[in-house]
Formats: sequence, structure tokens, C-alpha cells
Amino acid sequence: MNWWRHPDCPPEGTQLCSWDELPVEGGLERVFGSSGDPLHLVVLRAGEDAVCFVNLCPHFSLPLNHEPGRFLTFDGSVVCAHHTAFFQLADGVCTEGPCLGMALERVPVMHRQGVVILGSGSGGVRQGGDTA
Ligand code: FES
Repeated sequence: MNWWRHPDCPPEGTQLCSWDELPVEGGLERVFGSSGDPLHLVVLRAGEDAVCFVNLCPHFSLPLNHEPGRFLTFDGSVVCAHHTAFFQLADGVCTEGPCLGMALERVPVMHRQGVVILGSGSGGVRQGGDTA
């Protein structure tokens, strides 16, 4: 399922976190929905920008983190805690590890005035040209 089709997908403009909440190393998880299958997002710093992905590794469809709220980042990548796949923060593509060439599902976000919000991809035309 694409993130925007998830029944608990928040609307465009939803505040995910403040910039100051984002750790310099690691990431911040946000969970939407209280059903048995909520939407898990991870927000990370990428220089002066924020990036966001669905927190689901394409290798075994497991969360990237092994412990709640603990994400490993290294040299411009987020690293899956299970089998050490490296995903570039720039585009979510795996550059090293067991799922080479596969990618995390990217979620558009904007960093504005100290706040990270869900970007325009969450309404209307979505990434990949799909429509809502
Ligand atoms: S589950 Fe992420 S690398 Fe295996």
C-alpha cells in the first residue's frame, strides 16, 4: 500500500515535529492511527532539510528501528537495524546491504519556520503521478 492510501494518512500540512525535536543523529518516529495497522513515519535531518519515509524496510517489511524511537544514521544514510541496509537520505535508495537498489517509501515534507509539515504530495497529485 502506498502511504497516501493508508486509512490513517494525515492531511497535507499536518505538523510532524518541530525542527528542534529532530535529533542531529537518528530520527523521530510519528505514528498515525490507532488501528491494528497504524501508519509509521520516520522523520530525519538531511543537512538543513528534513526528509521522511514510511518506517518499513523493503527487505523484510520490518521497521527500520529495533528499539522504539532509536534510528541509526551514518554518513547521509539511515541504516536498518535488522540486516544493516543503508538507505540514502536523499532518495531512500539502498546503496549497501541485502536489498541493494530497493528504496524506502518517501513521504514529502517541508521545513518551514522551524516546523516540519507533511508536504504537497499528500493531496492531489502524488509522487509517481498517481492521483488521490
Ligand atoms: S529488514 Fe531491513 S535490512 Fe533486513
